[in-house]
Amino acid sequence: MLGVLALAMVMVVFVTWQVLSARSDASADRELSHEAAKFRGFATTPDATALRTPEELLERWLQLNLPDDSEAFFTIVDGRPYRRGQGTPPARLDTDTAFIQRIAGATEPTYGWADSSAGKVRYGVLPVRVGDQPVRAQLVVIEFRDLIAQPSEDAARALAVVGAITLALAAVACWLITGRVLAPIRQLRSTAEQISESDLRRRIQVVGTDDVAQLARTFNTMLDRLEAAFLTQREFADNAGHELRTPITVIRGHLELMSDDPDDQEQTKALVLDELSRMNRMVDDLLVLAKSDRPDFLAPGEVNLTELVVEVVAKARPLAERQWRVDETADAVVIADGQRLTQALMQLVANAVRHTQAGDRIAVGSRLQNGQVLLWVADSGSGVPAADAERIFSRFVRGDDQVRAEGAGLGLSIVRSIAQAHGGEVRVAEQSAPGARFELTLPEVRG
Ligand SMILES: Nc1ncnc2c1ncn2[C@@H]1O[C@H](COP(=O)(O)OP(=O)(O)OP(=O)(O)O)[C@@H](O)[C@H]1O
Ligand SMILES: [Mg+2]
Repeated sequence: MLGVLALAMVMVVFVTWQVLSARSDASADRELSHEAAKFRGFATTPDATALRTPEELLERWLQLNLPDDSEAFFTIVDGRPYRRGQGTPPARLDTDTAFIQRIAGATEPTYGWADSSAGKVRYGVLPVRVGDQPVRAQLVVIEFRDLIAQPSEDAARALAVVGAITLALAAVACWLITGRVLAPIRQLRSTAEQISESDLRRRIQVVGTDDVAQLARTFNTMLDRLEAAFLTQREFADNAGHELRTPITVIRGHLELMSDDPDDQEQTKALVLDELSRMNRMVDDLLVLAKSDRPDFLAPGEVNLTELVVEVVAKARPLAERQWRVDETADAVVIADGQRLTQALMQLVANAVRHTQAGDRIAVGSRLQNGQVLLWVADSGSGVPAADAERIFSRFVRGDDQVRAEGAGLGLSIVRSIAQAHGGEVRVAEQSAPGARFELTLPEVRG
């Protein structure tokens, strides 16, 4: 940016210099033509024609004409410098023998450029002829071009200096401004560098309301989410490890204490198999949960809601002696993952079985309501205390009732993951009747 400015500045100064220099050349030329015309005019006056010799004519002219500050006149007679004009010229060319030799023989008006101690000069040699005599004298007019150019050059130089100062000030201003603008970004970068998986607590200081502050705020919110995600994951891994350790300890304890008695062996075998199947189920559940964030978690297709509900009840019936019911079902086909929905309802049904007694009622149903699909499992069991209604959906969380030891507390998290993957929710519904009622709501998507 500054480079472009500097280049532009140099070009402006260069072009100005060139233009002014060309003008100075032209003005030296103009002065010279003017003096030549004046001399020609003088030579034809009666006063001048009366004179007999070129010496007289030239002397007369020198007397009548004063050179400007940037001019000099002198005359040459018989090839040698003769008289000089009045005043002190900026540089003496009449003493430059090489120059005199070059111009002395001119019999025709001659113009040219030469160098002097006062810089470049534009000169004109005007031969003088009196009557029919051959030419033996010349008037030399010198225009000191560099002196004429002086004011223009000064102006160009001033322009260059002012330009350079402006550029320097602009550079300083740029540096200060970019420094101020970039400071928060630099801080952002260094904080981002310091943040690692092990220390996600750092945050960027947010100052002001500009775009950079907004960026910092967005960055901080992202860190909040990341930190929460890491914490949940760590907790999840801790819990999973802890939960899996229990059956392993139980199995090891029984195997170590197993005697040679065949009855005892039979008993231990049954217990070990039972614990293993519990572990197996838990690992399966953990895998489902781990997969639930992935896009291929669901395989959507057409789901007939009536078939779904009836099949779930049919599958659940052999689980336990209960009054199994289909409350009501919606006569509709929606787009969803039928297998995952069955899995969710089976988890709810398994919970209902666990929290009811023989002869209790367990009902499953579906309904279309406000553009949503409503699925439920209701039972007439012990019910869920209001205080637990939300937290039981978290992983590894179980209620405080006597049956808590049986499960790992993963069932409802799986139900929630399935509901959320469909863009829906699951909750414990409030109801007047005793028992618990779990409701799954999904957006109604028609094929
Ligand atoms: N139908 C219900 N009636 C009363 N309480 C229930 C019912 N369903 C769930 N709960 C409570 O919610 C808790 C969490 O249920 P969740 O299904 O997540 O775990 P779990 O059944 O204990 O274990 P898992 O499902 O992993 O075998 C249960 O421990 C229980 O206290
Ligand atoms: Mg359960």
